[in-house]
Amino acid sequence: MKFLLYSLGLLAFFSCGVSSQDRSVILPENEYNPEKRLQLLCEKAIVDLGKIPLDSINIPRTVEPDGQLKGTKSKSWTSGFFPGMLWELYSFCKEEPLKQAAIQWQSFVEKEKFDDGTHDLGFKIYCPFGNAYKITKKEAYKDVFVTAAKTLSTRYNPTVGAIRSWDHHADVWKFPVIIDNMMNLEMMFEATKLTGDSSFYHIANQHAKTTLKNHFRPDHSSYHVVSYDPKTGKIEKKNTHQGLNHESAWSRGQAWGLYGFTVTYRYTKNPVFLEQAKKIANFIFTHPNLPPDLIPYWDYDAPNIPDEPRDVSAATVTASGLFELSKYDPANATKYLAWANQILKTLEEEKYQLNTAPFFLKHSVGSIPGKFEMDAPIIYADYYYVEALLRSRKEKY
Ligand code: GLY
Repeated sequence: MKFLLYSLGLLAFFSCGVSSQDRSVILPENEYNPEKRLQLLCEKAIVDLGKIPLDSINIPRTVEPDGQLKGTKSKSWTSGFFPGMLWELYSFCKEEPLKQAAIQWQSFVEKEKFDDGTHDLGFKIYCPFGNAYKITKKEAYKDVFVTAAKTLSTRYNPTVGAIRSWDHHADVWKFPVIIDNMMNLEMMFEATKLTGDSSFYHIANQHAKTTLKNHFRPDHSSYHVVSYDPKTGKIEKKNTHQGLNHESAWSRGQAWGLYGFTVTYRYTKNPVFLEQAKKIANFIFTHPNLPPDLIPYWDYDAPNIPDEPRDVSAATVTASGLFELSKYDPANATKYLAWANQILKTLEEEKYQLNTAPFFLKHSVGSIPGKFEMDAPIIYADYYYVEALLRSRKEKY
């Protein structure tokens, strides 16, 4: 019935000739209210679904400077975020079109569970299928990410004590491990929890320990890439790929670390991981180059601050991570919640909100050195935005 009403609503919406460009997502009161924001995002997402043809090789990723939607194939590391976000929204408003679309879009991504040529299986597979399983408890969804966890396990090298991130740039790095890889561990921990096979846990736990040991500088900022000799486990290089330079603090990398070590603490309860997450939070929020609205520039060491692009994706990942961190560190919870809520409040501003289907937020950065998505809406910023909004209501951890 609800679905029918929505379909009729959509029909009426389109037959009036109104486009989503005309549909403001700014709250009338222009105030921070996660409930209202999530409701608006659900409504916008349902309307936007009618504007995006289902296409297995055009899974929404970003918007080109000319305003055209740019999609990706399932192989891209970003392919799971759109269906994953539809599940997140569905968990809030329970609107059937969101669920049906999530199922359809994630079906294009499922085959990636067998791809042993990348570490990005957590992003690609766990974001949609992990959410799908949490919401529906369907065994088939669990099987998808357990299979992906098995595939990811093949990239673990016990001599290094880490999962290999990339196979590309083999001429530059023998065995690169990037800070982003912390984000794949949730799928591994969850696979152990649900199957009883402890191998995933051991790999994830060791990977986090190795990252903790080798990725961080004395100020608790993180290198992006640490490369190892796979035969000896010795460190080969400490580099960047998406940051300003090898010694700079790439903003999204700091966010991946904060979020990843918080999740690792969730499963291991090892206080060293909690301490690391706290140190990263402290690095970020005491950094002199963090603007008062708490949306960081793309790199904390970018040379032309304040005339540098912001990275909203780093802010949304950080906000989401902080909501969880606040649960494990009661002494500092008020501070973490204030920071996370301030980020969400800032993102209410018109300058950050976007109406182009199917995106919500402007001003993220894919890669400045790579010269792509240098100030653009990007789907993973939206994914963690919705997650942060849900977490602000204590619904999703
Ligand atoms: N994981 C790739 C990125 O953060 O751009």
